[in-house]
Amino acid sequence: MTEPTDAPDTFRRTFLALAAAGPAAFTLASTASAQTASDADPATRPGTGRAAIVTGSSRGIGAATARRLAREGYAVTVNCLVNTDLAAQVVAEIEAEGGRAIWLQADVADPEAVRALFAANEEAFGGVDVVVSNAGIFNSGPFAEMTDAAFDRMIATNVKGGFNVLREAARHVRDGGRIITLSSGIVRQPPPGGAAYAGTKSDLQIYARVLAKEVAGRNIRVNAVAPGAVDTQLLWQHGEELLDGIPEATPLRRLGEPEDIANVIAVLCSENGGWINGETVYANGGLN
Ligand SMILES: NC(=O)c1ccc[n+]([C@@H]2O[C@H](COP(=O)([O-])OP(=O)(O)OC[C@H]3O[C@@H](n4cnc5c(N)ncnc54)[C@H](OP(=O)(O)O)[C@@H]3O)[C@@H](O)[C@H]2O)c1
Repeated sequence: MTEPTDAPDTFRRTFLALAAAGPAAFTLASTASAQTASDADPATRPGTGRAAIVTGSSRGIGAATARRLAREGYAVTVNCLVNTDLAAQVVAEIEAEGGRAIWLQADVADPEAVRALFAANEEAFGGVDVVVSNAGIFNSGPFAEMTDAAFDRMIATNVKGGFNVLREAARHVRDGGRIITLSSGIVRQPPPGGAAYAGTKSDLQIYARVLAKEVAGRNIRVNAVAPGAVDTQLLWQHGEELLDGIPEATPLRRLGEPEDIANVIAVLCSENGGWINGETVYANGGLN
């Protein structure tokens, strides 16, 4: 669960001030222990037999990604922390479109729970080709006001959780697979109140870069995706006014939608994304 601690007004004012200052001023901002499958590129492997795990996919970017990968032919393991009803709904939507999916409640901060998530996927679908480490929380606030609880939970979810998921991905993703972690555009120019969150998201870029090297020779691509402001509960929880002015400051004149990010992830999972490796891909409608 998130523990919002920020002063939204401060955050929003900084956001808009930086945006107004001009484009340069602102950006919201090896092992293979369970390898079981062929060396075929998952982008070209027939639809049946490909599987994806998307953490934090009961809503927002993760849910859009789960639905999108299912349409691309992946059997999908959906994951949530508390909203089991929403996770079940995502699975039902995928199945209604003819896809295959399961859901599992698992706290990414807990290594055992993450191992159980991969085991459930293995049991249902026989292996994994794509892992999207998407689960994350956004607690913001100035240094002087950030509580230990809010800071610790964000480190546990974003940093330890990201590590837990990437570690299991390194162990289990089949040769030719894809591993993607969700960073954030806030890393490029973190505003006041955004240090702790931006720090966690910065770590994930390093994780992707290093893991890409560690799985070298297995034809596995590892990348981070760094969205700008996307219209999800992650931002709404801090008050809808946090989003005021962002569409106007964005060259494409709107907020990002979860599907915008799912599209980027789909490209990275496709053959077209095959030469992108160890990178961070920024996707923000031009809000730089
Ligand atoms: N929205 C943005 O503007 C934005 C921008 C840049 C980067 N991002 C990143 O994109 C990712 C997704 O963000 P979002 O906006 O889609 O967030 P969101 O709408 O708040 O959804 C977060 C998802 O993560 C799950 N989750 C949270 N903590 C978890 C935990 N400990 N274990 C397992 N699942 C957990 C939630 O499950 P429950 O439903 O059960 O709570 C939910 O499915 C995050 O990593 C975020 O940092 C978002």
